[in-house]
Amino acid sequence: MAKVKIDGFEIEVADGTTVLQAARQIGGDLVPPAMCYYTSLKGSGGKCRTCLVKVTKGSEKDPRPMPKLVASCQTMVMDGMEVASISDPQVTNARAGVVEFLLLNHPLDCPICDQAGECKLQDLAFEHGSEETRYEFERRTFEPIDIGPYIKLHMTRCILCYRCVYVANQLTPERVHGIINRGDHAEISTYIERAITNDFSGNVIDVCPVGALTDRTFRFKSRVWFLNPMDVHRSCDKCCGKAVAWMYGDEIYRVTARKDQYDEVQEYICNTCRFDKKDVREWTVEGPRAISRHSVISQGHYAEQAETVV
Ligand code: SF4
Ligand code: FES
Repeated sequence: MAKVKIDGFEIEVADGTTVLQAARQIGGDLVPPAMCYYTSLKGSGGKCRTCLVKVTKGSEKDPRPMPKLVASCQTMVMDGMEVASISDPQVTNARAGVVEFLLLNHPLDCPICDQAGECKLQDLAFEHGSEETRYEFERRTFEPIDIGPYIKLHMTRCILCYRCVYVANQLTPERVHGIINRGDHAEISTYIERAITNDFSGNVIDVCPVGALTDRTFRFKSRVWFLNPMDVHRSCDKCCGKAVAWMYGDEIYRVTARKDQYDEVQEYICNTCRFDKKDVREWTVEGPRAISRHSVISQGHYAEQAETVV
């Protein structure tokens, strides 16, 4: 076990825990934002730099501070380590710089983006971003493409976090997409525009932190905050069958996997549950899903309406 102090809060965690996971065990505002790290995806993290923290004391044995800010999702705790997250202006300034960098090419199209209301970049820009951009060059743009019947790729919105690539690598039997080219030319692609068709491909939509990969069966049908997220389950021979049905009245608009408080999928679901089961009679409705009161989705006071649906 190792004792670590983050913004003055001390916690004892197992050796091998990252600073980000230790911060999540403490909880609250000091938890660094994470745009690319995903607990259930091996190898994720280390791409976006939004989770920067300052290590002010290395360990009990070697108390020297680390010379630069470090990515908390990639830094293991050491016994006696002391870390500054939101308590240090250098960290918050650096995060603001990272947000500015992520937004260099990202379009400000939230009013027409299906991810609005549940987009991590939108939250991050709200919490750490500046009001205007200093970028004067032409932005990198791509035409949206359909990759199969269910998924729309808006490469212009992609922040190259690699999560969808890891999902495809680790969850599906056959990966047909990835990142091609380098630097400013890097893009998510199926290379020869093949459809992503395997049974678990829909999970790339859930892990995408922005609106780069969206559900074609739901696009432009409703804003998420007009819908009532309900915990539902069904007996499925491919996946756990536990999902969230986003409902309006007794109509299911879309089905997603259940996510935890850090917006990470708890159990991945198959495409049959996600795309083919839109009739409420095919599901057992457990009840309204608990939504953080900070989320725009909770602003619709869906709980009262949801009772009527049940
Ligand atoms: S498409 Fe989404 S999940 Fe995939 S790399 Fe881009 S931002 Fe990440
Ligand atoms: S979450 Fe740590 S670098 Fe992206």
